[in-house]
Amino acid sequence: MTTRRALDDFRLRFGDHGPEVVPLMLGGMGVDISNTDLALEVARLGGIGHISDAMVPTVTDRRYETEFTKAKLKKYKYNVKNSDKSVVKFDLGMVREAQKLHVEKTMARKTGAGMVFINCMEKLTMGAPKETLKVRLEAALDAGIDGITLSAGLHLGSFALIEDHPRFRDAKLGIIVSSVRALALFLKKNSRTGRLPDYVVVEGPLAGGHLGFGLDWAQYDLKTITAEVLRYLAENHLSIPVIPAGGIFTGTDAVEYLEMGAAAVQVATRFTVTKECGLPDDVKQEYFKANEEDVVVNTISPTGYPMRMLKSSPAIGSGIRPNCESYGYLLDANGHCAYIDAYNRAVETTPPGDKLHVWDKTCLCTHMRNFKVWTCGHYVYRLKDTTRRYPDGTYQLLTAEHVFKDYQYSTEHQIRLPDPEPQPPQKAKGRAAAPETLADDV
Ligand SMILES: Cc1cc2nc3c(=O)[nH]c(=O)nc-3n(C[C@H](O)[C@H](O)[C@H](O)COP(=O)(O)O)c2cc1C
Repeated sequence: MTTRRALDDFRLRFGDHGPEVVPLMLGGMGVDISNTDLALEVARLGGIGHISDAMVPTVTDRRYETEFTKAKLKKYKYNVKNSDKSVVKFDLGMVREAQKLHVEKTMARKTGAGMVFINCMEKLTMGAPKETLKVRLEAALDAGIDGITLSAGLHLGSFALIEDHPRFRDAKLGIIVSSVRALALFLKKNSRTGRLPDYVVVEGPLAGGHLGFGLDWAQYDLKTITAEVLRYLAENHLSIPVIPAGGIFTGTDAVEYLEMGAAAVQVATRFTVTKECGLPDDVKQEYFKANEEDVVVNTISPTGYPMRMLKSSPAIGSGIRPNCESYGYLLDANGHCAYIDAYNRAVETTPPGDKLHVWDKTCLCTHMRNFKVWTCGHYVYRLKDTTRRYPDGTYQLLTAEHVFKDYQYSTEHQIRLPDPEPQPPQKAKGRAAAPETLADDV
């Protein structure tokens, strides 16, 4: 049944006396895709915007001219040709400083009635999973973030890492799960801290980024999982706002979840083609152009999670040398990353003189940092229906305000097109940004 209600007929409130916001949350999109500008715009409009702390030192290098990545590479340059990366470690002081800078600079510009949260992925193991995550969480709290969303992992010990922090009970803390089983496990392991999450994002199989499902993702659906989570919480007398995510493309899609008992929705893909979004403009055009058959869920991420992306992502098949001395965000506690193994296998089997390709894994750090992994939600192919087309075939970028208000006020699955704008002058392809830090630079 099609509802005539709009998302604006609902509000999300944390606790009995907490702030009230429009129940629309912009999901975290690393690396710097849901950037400060985009998150702030969502907060200004009264919703919740996420920044991400994925690869935060390289993000602050690019934005605030710090030189964290260069310093790290300088320290470990001697190891660049070594396939054993176990010596490569992050300086925790540097991680803390970068995170504080990223969050403080964002929060200093915050306006409006909404909130700004940060997305922290557990799979970003950074050579020392516990220690680096603790520093990232603490520094975000120190720098005044409104809330932290724990993602890409079960986070069974993450609350405990910050239970002594003075803001442990005042900041909003949430967790992303893809099943009731993961939620039950999280609640059980965290009961010792005496603190429930303030919200639970239930991410279904149509989301962008990494998926909490196997390659059989198509057998699951968000409505069923959301209903299971709502039932589980009710049966256990737990009052925790539930926020479904993944494939919620219209305001009416959102209302359907709110009418089921969800407290808000989390969305991302529709905001990837906004002017504020951190993707380069030519990549935004790739998202607009995409057709359904151009989207793939593959296993090239070294994290072990399947990931959804455009088949034309330049990262697929790239045989770039592992860049762990500069980046190394996916190194586990023993200095391992599945890409290093895949790369070494390709080096052994590629005949001399042939171009090196690595098909089974990708160097996610380098390619996410350079916007070469075009990860997207399943409905990326519907973005072309949300805007206007210029005579040369390119698409008009949207504003975050337009997309936000379309979610907020639209009814009956309608999507409002933006007012026509003259085509901006063509920019040179690619991004005029700081070059990546490679071994030869230092
Ligand atoms: C470009 C892109 C990057 C993403 N990166 C992350 C991320 O770094 N961490 C995360 O938890 N989720 C990530 N996601 C998932 C979103 O936060 C969100 O939950 C999901 O995409 C919502 O579904 P939708 O895109 O269909 O609206 C990403 C999604 C997209 C489209």
